[in-house]
This record gives sequence, C-alpha cells and structure tokens, in this order.
Amino acid sequence: MAKVTWDGSTLLSPVPVVLVGCGSAEHPNTMTAAWTGVVCSDPPMAYVSIRKERYSYGLIRESGLFSLNLVNRSLVRAADFCGVRSGRQLDKLAHLGLHASAGRLGCPLIDESPLSLECRVTQVLELGSHDLFLAEIEAVHAEESLLDSSGRLCLEKAELVAYSHGQYVPLGRSLGGFGFSVRKKPVRKKPSSSKKS
Ligand SMILES: Cc1cc2nc3c(=O)[nH]c(=O)nc-3n(C[C@H](O)[C@H](O)[C@H](O)COP(=O)(O)O)c2cc1C
Repeated sequence: MAKVTWDGSTLLSPVPVVLVGCGSAEHPNTMTAAWTGVVCSDPPMAYVSIRKERYSYGLIRESGLFSLNLVNRSLVRAADFCGVRSGRQLDKLAHLGLHASAGRLGCPLIDESPLSLECRVTQVLELGSHDLFLAEIEAVHAEESLLDSSGRLCLEKAELVAYSHGQYVPLGRSLGGFGFSVRKKPVRKKPSSSKKS
C-alpha cells in the first residue's frame, strides 16, 4: 500500500472528547478536552493535557481536582461551545442550562453527562504547549438508567461521541467484544433429519 510520510503530529484518531469539570461547587467551570485518556488500570489513572492560558488550568492547579464527563449526542453542541468560550468571560454552565453537582471529592460533575470520572491530580508534567495533569480516578458516577437489572453498566446505550480529525462523530454499532477474535464459537446443534409428526 503506497503511503505518504509527514513530520510528527497529533494524528491519533479517534480520541475521546470530554467536558472537564473544575473549580468549586459554588463556582464550577467546564472546558472541552480531547487530549485525555486512561493510563493505568491499578490504580485507575487518567490524564488531561491543558494549555496554561485556559481558565480551567488555574482552577485545577488550585484544587488538585477535576472530573472527566463523557459526552453523548445531547451534549455535543454544549461540548463544542465549552471548547470555544472561556469561563473567564461567562458562566458557560448557566448559559447552556447545564448543572453541576459536587462529587465525592467535592469536584464539580456535570449532571447531564452519562458518566463522570472524579480525579485527583498526582503529578503535573510540563510538556510544551500543554501541561499534562496525571491523576488517580477516585470515583465514577454513572447514570442509573445505564445499568441493567443485574447492575451491569451498559455504556453502549449512552450514545457516546468521539472526536476524529476535527469532527464530533457518534460511536457506531459494535463489531465484536473484547477477545471475540479468539473466542470459540458455540457449537450449533445439527437439525434433526427425522421429521416428527
Ligand atoms: C473538541 C475540542 C477539544 C479541545 N481539547 C483541548 C485540550 O485537550 N486541551 C486544551 O487545553 N484545550 C482544549 N480545547 C480548547 C478549550 O476547551 C478552550 O480553550 C476552552 O475555551 C477553555 O475554557 P476555559 O478558559 O473556561 O478553561 C479543545 C476545544 C475543542 C472544541
């Protein structure tokens, strides 16, 4: 397959898009971030990379806390808005009719998000354009309607959105579950040849 080669750039795709909750319960703020992800299972850890000039940057530095709020179809317009307007100029949550509540650590969580990860910063790494906030995920808050009768989280019902090459894109139908490539197919019973009357 013929390929073209460019100098290094941030073309990993798709990436998540989240609303980062920060500030205090009395004065919450949120900003959109795509430079975010998980980095460790045990302890559960995540990161978000933020430019120093963002209003949210100082708020997270001050509290040492942030939340990562997943974005679904209903939140996609708000997520774009929160990525192009600053909390320095306006109360984005009030403007959008969104609500924030304090989580277990006291960090603002976006009520309208289907799932929020509450994070405590453990390290800040100065990388260049962005500083990376490395954090432990200390609590997860999920919308009750996403749980089935046995308490299993059915995140596929949340209509989540990803970010790919400058576009917000809905997640599509599942193409297989974890390990499906090596899982043995259930043996199908042969249909019986003798007809019963
Ligand atoms: C889709 C999208 C992704 C973004 N990702 C990041 C990011 O990862 N890090 C960052 O510093 N800014 C990112 N931004 C820009 C901030 O969200 C934007 O500057 C915002 O207005 C900052 O708000 P604040 O000043 O209230 O903190 C992104 C914007 C959009 C629209």
